[in-house]
Amino acid sequence: MIDTLINMKQQALKEIEKVKELSELDQLRIKYLGKKGDVSLMMAKLRDLSPEERPLFGQKVNEVKSELEERIYQKKQIFEQEELIKLLASEKIDVTLPGTSFYQGSIHPLNQVIEDVEDLFIGMGYEIAEGPELENDHYNFEMMNLAKDHPARAMQDSFYVDENNLLRTHTSPVQARTMLEKKGKPLKIICPGKVYRRDDDDPTHSHQFMQIEGLVIDKNITFASLKDALLKMVRHLFGVERTIRLRPSYFPFTEPSVEVDVSYIKKDGTIGWIEILGAGQVHPNVLSMGGYDPEQFQGFAFGIGVERIAILKYGIDDIRHFYMNDLRFLRQFKGVNK
Ligand code: PHE
Repeated sequence: MIDTLINMKQQALKEIEKVKELSELDQLRIKYLGKKGDVSLMMAKLRDLSPEERPLFGQKVNEVKSELEERIYQKKQIFEQEELIKLLASEKIDVTLPGTSFYQGSIHPLNQVIEDVEDLFIGMGYEIAEGPELENDHYNFEMMNLAKDHPARAMQDSFYVDENNLLRTHTSPVQARTMLEKKGKPLKIICPGKVYRRDDDDPTHSHQFMQIEGLVIDKNITFASLKDALLKMVRHLFGVERTIRLRPSYFPFTEPSVEVDVSYIKKDGTIGWIEILGAGQVHPNVLSMGGYDPEQFQGFAFGIGVERIAILKYGIDDIRHFYMNDLRFLRQFKGVNK
């Protein structure tokens, strides 16, 4: 009897060892340890034994039962662990894989130029001033010394909304507004922004463009102060080897007025000049309309076209590129100023 029991145990252990999956193991458990399983059958055989033999055999059967239970439990644990490892492996995310890249937008080249110029002037103590694009005649023209019948208005024909309101033709009305705000105190400002003129669009003309104007009002401002500021700006934008040339000109809001050229080296090695901006000393009429006594205060002002800077800096052949929103154009300016 004991031999049969031992054989059964050996057989069971072998089978448990060979098991490949949880369901097979379960079948084995039923086969050996179930109610009608081999171990129970062994127990039933107690009846056939003599009363002396029973306790020892009973004890042996119980030992086999516990051993088999133990082995099945262990095996089950191994299966469950393998299962878990498989699950974890299937859910693993490899964080070292490079992500899918996507196109990131960038700052428009005109805004890059504006930010670059702003950075320079902020460093020299200027404030940034902004104003509305829909202006009234008073700020756009009258306060800039262009009375209603002034012939120079013809140079800046605009889009009128009604008789008094128009799309601003320059950022100078921001200067007028800031002068009134400062109530006679010295000021140093840069006014960047969009302006409009009634023009037919072609490679060098656009009915909409951007300007940056500068205005400084204080006591003891001379023409040298203006020249110094302009030279700093030109060298910051185009390189320290550049120089400037001032030519007499006319603007109603400045007196004297100048056109400013920047130098460049021509292909044959000689120096050439490109006109880049207008400037001058603030006209006494503009000062007094803005609340400053022209006997005590002087000022200088300049206005530069943002497109003109970008065109010269990057060799762009058509001003309309800036307003077409063509990504092939815009992508070329990703961080060029950084
Ligand atoms: N406001 C002028 C223009 O738009 C530019 C300018 C500004 C010229 C300041 C001189 C001084 O043409």
